[in-house]
Formats: sequence, structure tokens, C-alpha cells
Amino acid sequence: MKAPERIETERLVLRRPRAADAEAIFARYAADAEVTRFVGWPAHRSVADTQAFLASSDAEWARWPAGPYLAHARDGGTLLGSTGLAFETPGRAMTGYVFAQDAWGRGYATEALGAMVDTARAVGVRRLYALCHTGHRPSWHVLEKAGFEREGILRRYCEFPNLQPGEPLDVFCYAIVLSKGTENR
Ligand SMILES: CC(C)(COP(=O)(O)OP(=O)(O)OC[C@H]1O[C@@H](n2cnc3c(N)ncnc32)[C@H](O)[C@@H]1OP(=O)(O)O)[C@@H](O)C(=O)NCCC(=O)NCCS
Repeated sequence: MKAPERIETERLVLRRPRAADAEAIFARYAADAEVTRFVGWPAHRSVADTQAFLASSDAEWARWPAGPYLAHARDGGTLLGSTGLAFETPGRAMTGYVFAQDAWGRGYATEALGAMVDTARAVGVRRLYALCHTGHRPSWHVLEKAGFEREGILRRYCEFPNLQPGEPLDVFCYAIVLSKGTENR
């Protein structure tokens, strides 16, 4: 079962990225050193990096029930950030989120994550999880607000190429277990 390519929440439109989004993604958040400090991918140096992300997004969407989503403001249509579901098996997926600086602190990440939990449940995900740097409180606080539980620390597990290249760092592993038709949140 495929997830919808467009999802509306109270204030956001979440939709599958397309090739024409490259310039906006690059300009709004993917090249911003502050925004990308705690993400697991290198900050984009040119729009070609963003185009490579869009190609990998299409590959994810072709293979699995969903993939990345872009978050736009319902009011005005500004690109605010990105979230998504990265499938590892039909029943297990990872999620995450990244928002442009001017969109921080308004609850958008929490709203987008809630939609990812609902979407994951609807397409049969049983375990939805996320990894985050142990020092990045805003990120794991968002997960806790959405009902994720901290399972532990994975030591020296993830590289943060914009923070400490070449050095795997400790991360918190957060997960939520989903059962079809049941409200977990
Ligand atoms: C992490 C991020 C997604 C949060 O997005 P957001 O839309 O601001 O999140 P929300 O507004 O939904 O919630 C943030 C929460 O963290 C809290 N918070 C924000 N900054 C904080 C800080 N420096 N210290 C402690 N808490 C903080 C907010 O108060 C809010 O909690 P509250 O609702 O209880 O008040 C956003 O900062 C971001 O995109 N950062 C860059 C990318 C990134 O690091 N992504 C995560 C990679 S794992």
C-alpha cells in the first residue's frame, strides 16, 4: 500500500518532492550551516547536491510505500522544511525532520512528525524510529512530544559530517511501536 503523496495538517502541506524543488530546498535549508549541524548528511554545496537528493527521493518512493516529504506552509505556500519515512523493511522505518531557521520554534516539526506517525501506521509500519545527537535537545524533545520512547544510547553510532567529520558520535535511539487502527499517540 502506497502512502499519499500529499498530506494536509492544520498548518502544513506535506508532499512528495519533485525535480523543480531543487533551488528552493537549497536556498531555504539544505546549504545552511546552522540548520545542518545535527543532520547525518553533508550540507549541500551546490544545487547539484540537492538534485542528487531528489533522485534518491524518487528511488525511495519507487521502491517503498513512501519516502521524503517537503513541508510547505498551507498559508502562503512557503517551503519550510522536510520530513519523511525511510523504509528498511516493510514494517520498519526511520523518520527525521529538518526545518529552515525562520520556521523553528512554532511547533512545525511536532506537527510534521505527528503526520509521519499516522502515515507510517496507515501503511503497516510496526516500528518507527529516529536517531538524534545526544546534545540536541530540541530534536529529541520533539520525539518525546509525539509519543516516541527513548530506548537507549547507541555509542559511536552515527557520523555528523557537518559537526565532526569522520568521527562516529553517540546518539539517542527513539522509537514508537504502531499497531494498525490503534491510536498510540
Ligand atoms: C530540531 C528542529 C526540527 C525542531 O523544529 P521546531 O519546528 O522548532 O520544533 P517544535 O517547535 O515542534 O518543538 C521544539 C521544542 O524544542 C524546544 N526547544 C527549542 N530550542 C530549544 C533549546 N535550544 N533548548 C531546549 N529546548 C528547545 C521548544 O521549546 C519546543 O518544545 P515545547 O513545544 O515544549 O516548547 C529544528 O530546530 C531543526 O530543523 N533543526 C535543524 C535540523 C535538525 O537538527 N534536525 C534534527 C536532526 S535529528
